[in-house]
Amino acid sequence: MSSETSPPTWGPLRSFGRIKSRTLKPRQAALFDTLLPTIALPDPTQGSLDPRALMPGAQEVWLEIGFGGGEHLAEQARRRPTALMIGCEPFLNGVGSVLRHIEEFELKNVRVHAGDARDVLNALPEASLDRVMVLFPDPWPKARHNKRRLVQEDSAAAMARVLKPGGRLRFVTDWKDYADWALERFLKTPGLEWQAGSQADWTVAPADHVTTRYEEKKLGDTAPIFLEFIRA
Ligand SMILES: C[S@@+](CC[C@H](N)C(=O)[O-])C[C@H]1O[C@@H](n2cnc3c(N)ncnc32)[C@H](O)[C@@H]1O
Repeated sequence: MSSETSPPTWGPLRSFGRIKSRTLKPRQAALFDTLLPTIALPDPTQGSLDPRALMPGAQEVWLEIGFGGGEHLAEQARRRPTALMIGCEPFLNGVGSVLRHIEEFELKNVRVHAGDARDVLNALPEASLDRVMVLFPDPWPKARHNKRRLVQEDSAAAMARVLKPGGRLRFVTDWKDYADWALERFLKTPGLEWQAGSQADWTVAPADHVTTRYEEKKLGDTAPIFLEFIRA
């Protein structure tokens, strides 16, 4: 897809359920006023985003879509201080949680969008990211809800567009049907290559995987399935 192609127009925000479930803890609420304004992405619906301007000199740029409580995002950021880690999450209690982790680890390399990741995908330049991660997205297992799944043909194409050649997309789920659904769509996406050769490639966690909070709950119907694609 060329950068001149118009970005997709997303449907209403149905891929996630709740924006807020419980009152934020006082420390988290305070961080919304103090820390978040210093690390929030510019509104992606108002113009394009330039990752180089977000963290000049960053050696890599990663995007995590739906970071939940942010444990994975914060730990990856702690391990790689020279990489810019962009995280998107509309669930405000999750944003409050990641702010606590960022404060605790004194991270300087995380930027947060408290909203829909698909707007960020639209606003990023073509071939601007090294990694995209979608970890345990909401499964929407009932057939009539499948259309709410984050992975659709247009979002898969948007992920491929923003990855640099050689960049990697990781999708992980513990729902068998969602793994099949996502694999089918990613394999159809021009520019994404799945290089799995044996079962271990999707059943064994990659060496740099960090266990997520949702993963620990084991709510799905299978052990985690790890799908990793390379941008051609
Ligand atoms: C099942 S949770 C998993 C959270 C985390 N990745 C983990 O493994 O613990 C899925 C998350 O994706 C978020 N989400 C859903 N649609 C999204 C979207 N369009 N953009 C960003 N995040 C989204 C939800 O709010 C939710 O927190």
